[in-house]
Amino acid sequence: MTGTELTSGTEWWRTAVIYQIYPRSFADANGDGMGDLSGISARLPHLKELGIDAIWLSPFYTSPQRDAGYDVADYCNVDPLFGTLDDFEVLQQTAHDLDIRVIVDIVPNHSSSDHGWFQAALASGPGSEERARYTFRDGRGENGELPPNNWESVFGGRAWTRTTNADGTPGQWYLHLFDSSQPDFDWESEWVREQFRAVLRFWLDRGVDGFRVDVAHGMIKAPGLPDYTPPADGGSMGGTPASALEPGISAEAPATPPYWAQEGVHEIYRDWHNVLAEYAGDRVLAAEAWVDPLSEMAKWVRADEMHQAFNFAYLETPWNGPLLRRVIDDSLEAFGNVGAPSTWVLSNHDVVRHASRLALTGDNLQGHGIGPKTADLPDTVIGLRRARAATALMLSLPGSSYLYQGEELGLPEAVDLPDHAREDPTWFRTSGERYGRDGCRVPIPWEAASESFGFSSGGTSWLPQPADWSALARDQQEGVPGSTLELYKLALRLRREHSLASGTVEWLDDSNSEVVEYRNGNVIIVANTGATSIELPAGEVLLVSESLTGRMLHGDATAWLRA
Ligand code: NOJ
Repeated sequence: MTGTELTSGTEWWRTAVIYQIYPRSFADANGDGMGDLSGISARLPHLKELGIDAIWLSPFYTSPQRDAGYDVADYCNVDPLFGTLDDFEVLQQTAHDLDIRVIVDIVPNHSSSDHGWFQAALASGPGSEERARYTFRDGRGENGELPPNNWESVFGGRAWTRTTNADGTPGQWYLHLFDSSQPDFDWESEWVREQFRAVLRFWLDRGVDGFRVDVAHGMIKAPGLPDYTPPADGGSMGGTPASALEPGISAEAPATPPYWAQEGVHEIYRDWHNVLAEYAGDRVLAAEAWVDPLSEMAKWVRADEMHQAFNFAYLETPWNGPLLRRVIDDSLEAFGNVGAPSTWVLSNHDVVRHASRLALTGDNLQGHGIGPKTADLPDTVIGLRRARAATALMLSLPGSSYLYQGEELGLPEAVDLPDHAREDPTWFRTSGERYGRDGCRVPIPWEAASESFGFSSGGTSWLPQPADWSALARDQQEGVPGSTLELYKLALRLRREHSLASGTVEWLDDSNSEVVEYRNGNVIIVANTGATSIELPAGEVLLVSESLTGRMLHGDATAWLRA
């Protein structure tokens, strides 16, 4: 029996390592410089070799690509840029044959403004049934010339755009928490709820193993849509304000914004939970919910709601012993209290890659990115060292871990992208003040000697790849002891052999130390976040993120030992 057969009760997601594929940038089979589904199918054996359990695919649906596919114009079809529904079938079958599960993205907070539903809403006019599916409002001011409230778009600028009536006069405004091409649905509408149940069933019927739910803390807005000004030091998606991460400063929950984390979202997930439960095979819902603190985030994964939530508190924790220990404890407690596994994640397509982020010295808010004019650009040598050590710590923890394509190669953020190549709406909506997320989305290098480093059969790539990525190409690391790729493979193999993902954390250190040390079953994990070398305890060394000198573990390094 293979792991991907549709048996229920395995709860495979509790311990899974889930690898995020960003289809635009993974592999391009048709040679147009943009990744596609056939490219993914062809490269899947490499992921099998890496040792992951599942893939999560960022959106590949019909879309004008104003937000890289998170602007969906047809939820039940594949954009020609990425292939066809048949190509999806092949991808899924190839993955399942390799015992790799397939999770797809679902984007329920907003559609593309190109979606037929939104076009019908525009055409139908105020007060119509079609308009009630989205968030239209009359403007304030004498002639409705002011937006309905003061909300700002996550990508910068105001969160409202005014429409034009059929006769050319200015009309109502519509809400878009993201780009103006991404109108927010009104989830009070039963019609909208019914459409999304049908979308879930469409993909479940095709055999997907689950969904990553975009902006799972959005969807329901506070009645009356009251004005709100977010704290200046908060991440744009509503995550932890930077001040809450400093030692000694309490991580009190900020006042809940009227557009995030409203109680009503939970009813939607209880409904979706029941839809998934109609299907065999332990299908999974994973929440992208930027919500603080962790005890609040845990509400998304109560027994009758979703199964996993991305642990952004962990992602946002600096490389610092006491803070890591605290976030690990808080995560295990918060998720454990509702019977859910903790997840762990260090990188994704919305944040500065951790091989750069962990060496940043200044403040960098989520979504703002880094670029040529950023003061204090990270030292890439320190960044990679810390990234390898941080990953080795993460993959030892009990629960489910998410990896983002390219991190197994140690890719840093691409900093030197020319302005004209940038595509993130954040860049345009802030007139270049925020770089946005293109730097973590550059197509990944497979073969050093090929054009576009083997990413595209046509030798081109939609974002330029840094020339020095040739040294990081997969074929340069394959079989090379100590390479980042081999470190990931070893960690994933040992994690499985020692059942670390279903283990426990037993602290062995002093909670104020720069050295994080704990026992998980018969393995001892030592992560040295400081600068001073330390002597390892007794025991056979199973894994090191940096070579040892005798029994000395240097700073910014992690070791696993047999207890
Ligand atoms: C979160 C996604 O991860 C991000 O890439 C996207 O821009 C926003 N949601 C809007 O859909």
